[in-house]
Amino acid sequence: MRLRSLRTQLTILSFAVTLVAILAVLFYVTPQLQSSLRDQKLRALSETGRAFTPQIADLVRNNGSDRQIDRIVSSVSDRTNARVTLLSVGDGDFGLQLAVFSDSYTDNRITDLELDVADDAARSGRVVAGTGASREGELAQVAVPIRDMDTVSRIALYSAPMADVEGNVALIRRQILIAGGLGLLLALAGGFVVSRSIARRVRTLERGADQVASGDFTAVFPTGKDDELGQLARGLDDMQRQLAQLESARRRFIATASHELRTPIFSIGGFLELLEDEELDDETRRQFVATVREQVERLGKLATDLLDLSRLEAGSVQLRREPTDLGELTRAVTAEFAPALDKHDSTLDVRLAGQRIEAVCDPERVAQVLRILIDNALTHTPSGTGVVVRGVRRNGAVRLAVVDDGPGISAAAAERVFEPFFTSDDAQGSGLGLAIARELAERMEGSLEVDPAPGRTTFSLELPA
Ligand SMILES: Nc1ncnc2c1ncn2[C@@H]1O[C@H](COP(=O)(O)OP(=O)(O)O)[C@@H](O)[C@H]1O
Ligand SMILES: [Mg+2]
Repeated sequence: MRLRSLRTQLTILSFAVTLVAILAVLFYVTPQLQSSLRDQKLRALSETGRAFTPQIADLVRNNGSDRQIDRIVSSVSDRTNARVTLLSVGDGDFGLQLAVFSDSYTDNRITDLELDVADDAARSGRVVAGTGASREGELAQVAVPIRDMDTVSRIALYSAPMADVEGNVALIRRQILIAGGLGLLLALAGGFVVSRSIARRVRTLERGADQVASGDFTAVFPTGKDDELGQLARGLDDMQRQLAQLESARRRFIATASHELRTPIFSIGGFLELLEDEELDDETRRQFVATVREQVERLGKLATDLLDLSRLEAGSVQLRREPTDLGELTRAVTAEFAPALDKHDSTLDVRLAGQRIEAVCDPERVAQVLRILIDNALTHTPSGTGVVVRGVRRNGAVRLAVVDDGPGISAAAAERVFEPFFTSDDAQGSGLGLAIARELAERMEGSLEVDPAPGRTTFSLELPA
């Protein structure tokens, strides 16, 4: 059993807590109990003294005989369960002097007589309670003065052993020790059982996490009880599910990418074989070469796009942040499309709200997004479709929208256009353009959305200004 294991630590902790509780009871509560029991004993003896002394005093004042006094003293002693001593107070050579006048010997637990308390009472003329040592152990004593014509003539001294208080306290202490011992054993056993179950659950989770780390997403994380460990198990399970999704997305991406790469390569291979045929006429040969060039171009674009996307997703593209005049940038980009517009028989308008639209961004990347959007507006629409690029600044953000009045995108397709490799028509695209554009927009802390109204498609790029 390792000393630093969770199990050992928890067991030791529960043991220590119980031990501290027992020691606190033993060394803090028991002394208090003892002193309050002693006080109680003295108070009870005082009350006894006050209650019974008048009977003796009456007899003394009425000059009762010694026998009568002895009898009442021993009867009071019987009833109070204390040794009762009647002392006479006289003037001696050294001040006040006490002499035993009558003594009950019924209580033979006390053979030794301490007179300090009685002395105090004789001097002060008041009831005095106190303790004194005797051969039989500590005594509780109460001395009650009896007055005769204003002077204290007698003292009734009540003595009872404190031993029973000590006995009670010792008994309680013993009981605490026994209960404490049992409690310690229980704490040890309980701590051991609980911590073993916790340690076992932690180990199961650890094994599951190891399994996930090694790429196996079938690990089971038992939630067990609905406690912190249960929540951790649920968290790990969620993590596993997300990792599995990411993993399958990654596999799908690779599979699609290789398929996309293979198609043009096969097609190029096929055409090259055909070109080797010497009996081809020049016209057909030219056509084949043009097709091969087209496929090579497509392949080159695909490779560039794949590289772009993977760099963006890996976060290894450094974006610049500089104040950019987006109006100027838009005009420059749209100018590049003049030949394409000509071929497509379309018009492209730039409409900017306000003189200057400025934003802090990477101009190269914004231009790339605009190219992707304008290219789409021309590629995926019938010829003659009008395209408008709008720029507006609103609520601390800049919005560039590329709007075309082509046939539009179906709502179902609109949800997927930003997925890599998604294409919804026969235009020979790779389906990576919008995925790259959105990734770029997000890297610039902006967004790219599509509004698929029928007969009008709007892609808007929003950037923080
Ligand atoms: N302006 C548009 N009008 C209609 N469909 C569009 C438009 N822009 C994009 N799309 C659809 O979104 C799909 C994904 O676009 P994109 O990611 O650029 O890939 P690609 O252009 O290579 O097909 C396109 O295949 C097309 O179906
Ligand atoms: Mg495209």
